[in-house]
Amino acid sequence: MDYSIESSPLDKLQSDCLLVGIYENQQLSPAATQLDSQFGGLLTKLIGRGDIRGKNAETLLINNLPDGNIARIVLLGFGERGKVTRKQYRKALAAAIKIVKDSKVSAASCALLDIDVNGADSQWKARQVVEVFNDGLYQYSATKKVDDKNPLQKLAVVADDSQQGLAESGLQQGIAIARGMELAKHLADLPGNICTPTHLAEQALALAGEHDKLTCEILEESDMEALGMGSFLSVSRGSRQPAKLICLDYQGGDSNAKPIVLIGKGLTFDAGGISLKPGLGMDEMKYDMCGGASVLGLVRMATLLNLKLNIVGLIPASENLPDGAANKPGDIWTSMSGKTIEILNTDAEGRLILCDTLTYAKKYNPDVVIDMATLTGACIVALGRVPSGLFGNDDKLCNDLLSAGDAACDLVWRMPIWEEYQEQLKSNFADLANIGGPDGGSITAAVFLSKFAEEYRWAHIDIAGTAWRTGANKGATGRPVPLVSQYLLNRASA
Ligand code: BES
Ligand code: MN
Ligand code: ZN
Repeated sequence: MDYSIESSPLDKLQSDCLLVGIYENQQLSPAATQLDSQFGGLLTKLIGRGDIRGKNAETLLINNLPDGNIARIVLLGFGERGKVTRKQYRKALAAAIKIVKDSKVSAASCALLDIDVNGADSQWKARQVVEVFNDGLYQYSATKKVDDKNPLQKLAVVADDSQQGLAESGLQQGIAIARGMELAKHLADLPGNICTPTHLAEQALALAGEHDKLTCEILEESDMEALGMGSFLSVSRGSRQPAKLICLDYQGGDSNAKPIVLIGKGLTFDAGGISLKPGLGMDEMKYDMCGGASVLGLVRMATLLNLKLNIVGLIPASENLPDGAANKPGDIWTSMSGKTIEILNTDAEGRLILCDTLTYAKKYNPDVVIDMATLTGACIVALGRVPSGLFGNDDKLCNDLLSAGDAACDLVWRMPIWEEYQEQLKSNFADLANIGGPDGGSITAAVFLSKFAEEYRWAHIDIAGTAWRTGANKGATGRPVPLVSQYLLNRASA
């Protein structure tokens, strides 16, 4: 997809399909009002007939216009004027995609920066047009023939002179975030037999080849052995695919600025190990690398925008399978930190690979560390599939992430990691048990991680319920790329 800014005024503009807004009670947006007079009151006539009211996400395709520069108009409903929320703006855009797709046009234009959205400027709106369209037009095709290929190739965001600057920067941000999400979704949707730890490592090396401020180093199992990563390696012992620790280093900021370290769980298939998962829905455990894929997406986003930040991306990548060499319940391993861990359930493997990565992160002298992981089914029980779970040892960092999520419409909700929960992780035979029993499962998982993140400011995002959609519409979402992108954009402009 090609995205651009269109600066011609509406009466000069050429378009196969032009999108304009309407509010509840049939109030036309400024752009729609102008088109109405250009077309001799056509829009007023259609709304007078009751064809569209302007409710949020309502659409009306007008495709029998008189010959001229504009072949089609899509009227898009946003809801009550003065009360349109950021979520509603996105919802209306998503509804427009279906109608644009169905009309089979190859180029469309959006004159939608003139919609009043609470708490949003033209930059935000331009960015959302790109993000929502790119997301809605995403089509998985790596291992499946796609008959109905989407014809839309070009999308222009109409901006008048006063909006140019903000619209242009919003467009560039949107493109970068969309490309990051695209990469994350593509890797996540690939099956476990293709997207192995080695495949993820190759993708990271290829990404590093695209930008001279980005380097990539892959730690092999022998390197991890030498570092004493007994916890991480205990997980990959049961797999024939070698584990990798992918280390990306983006130096966009001052050479002496402390980096933001992003860590993503890269479990390319989680069968549970000896504590085998039930068969129903187990295919979805190919998505257990969504955190890692998001780190790759975020690094891509940062390079596309040339963000003036130093960012380190660390992706522990492994499979978790049952095998004669696999972890057994009761096994005890020494982590890189020196803490011993009793493995009471081999399916709680994410924390085992993440804890050694959190210890490894210290060598970068991080400003903050943010990990993203499809860590616990319990997080879905607690929060459903709307927000991701947020945990952390620093209020400022957590609040910054909360408000970034709000701005990006990629929500997180904070949960506690109070010391009272540590009781649940006690073991008679090791410093820590790897599970804390049935109560508060996403919290005890986060508390486990916190024991390895005591020396820096740290946040953990549990994306078990948000990284992919289950059911008929199964597929990766690209979350939390928008949220963490917003956080990074805020940091870069601070
Ligand atoms: N990858 C899973 C978590 C998960 C499960 C994410 C379902 C999304 C949907 C993780 O490795 C896991 O298996 N966690 C266990 C922990 C338990 C054994 C303490 C879980 O959630 O059941
Ligand atoms: Mn598991
Ligand atoms: Zn897992």
